[in-house]
Amino acid sequence: MEIIRTPQEMQRRALELERAGHMVGFVPTMGFLHDGHLSLMHLARSRCDVLVASIFVNPAQFGPNEDLDAYPRDFARDEALCEAAGVDIVFYPEPASMYASDASVWIDETRLSQGLCGASRPGHFRGVCTVVAKLFNLVRPDVAVFGEKDAQQLRIIERMVRDLDFPVEIVRGPTVREADGLAMSSRNKYLDASQRRDALCLKRSLDEVTDMVRQGERQVAVLRDAMADGIGKVAAAAIDYIEFVDDATLVPVQLVEGRTLVAMAVKIGPTRLIDNAVLEP
Ligand code: PAF
Repeated sequence: MEIIRTPQEMQRRALELERAGHMVGFVPTMGFLHDGHLSLMHLARSRCDVLVASIFVNPAQFGPNEDLDAYPRDFARDEALCEAAGVDIVFYPEPASMYASDASVWIDETRLSQGLCGASRPGHFRGVCTVVAKLFNLVRPDVAVFGEKDAQQLRIIERMVRDLDFPVEIVRGPTVREADGLAMSSRNKYLDASQRRDALCLKRSLDEVTDMVRQGERQVAVLRDAMADGIGKVAAAAIDYIEFVDDATLVPVQLVEGRTLVAMAVKIGPTRLIDNAVLEP
């Protein structure tokens, strides 16, 4: 497995792979890998003959009061996991090499990024779109895999690829969960034992509304109240948002009539967790 540390070398290698006719698969990550990332790598692996993973904690997608410095990092462990997952190239750049100190061009998605995490984390998706566009220009993948756990991010990246004509196919990777239902996330590491138990309220509330919709409930106000009641019973939990939106446009809906995304962000103690489900009446 090759480790590439500079954008210039990554792009040179990508052009070489392209000229040699390789099918390049790509999984961008911020490291501290878990089984969710590995499942994206396995999915990408099945679609390509050269698999590239990037490990880069992107400063541009963190707000001033967010956890950039505390974000968990363990490159030695990530390297071993990538190797075992069949990654051919790990791109692991220094932040200073990715952004010029006077960088002044950014990519702003202006519709899908307005609500949900975009409303709670101003500038977050600008940072995500910009780094993903840069990574696509450096890695030049044919296929890139993004997880459905970050439902809004996934739809924004799909929109960016469509609107800016990136020659890459975006593949959706299903959310991977712990045995008890908690969605895998690098941020789960922040949870102590009791917060870890409390964090199950996210998936529990998604299961509850999925059942309610199956039994015929369509009113978003009723569904949202049921979720908020359940989560409200967990003392350590504070709801950032619970939103029901059209699955394609991310516009809020009042009734679950078509494919509806229910997305949530909940703080368990200081740790902000997200999760979602797609409701199909
Ligand atoms: O989902 C993530 O880990 C990040 O947002 C991504 C796509 C790697 C961009 O930094």
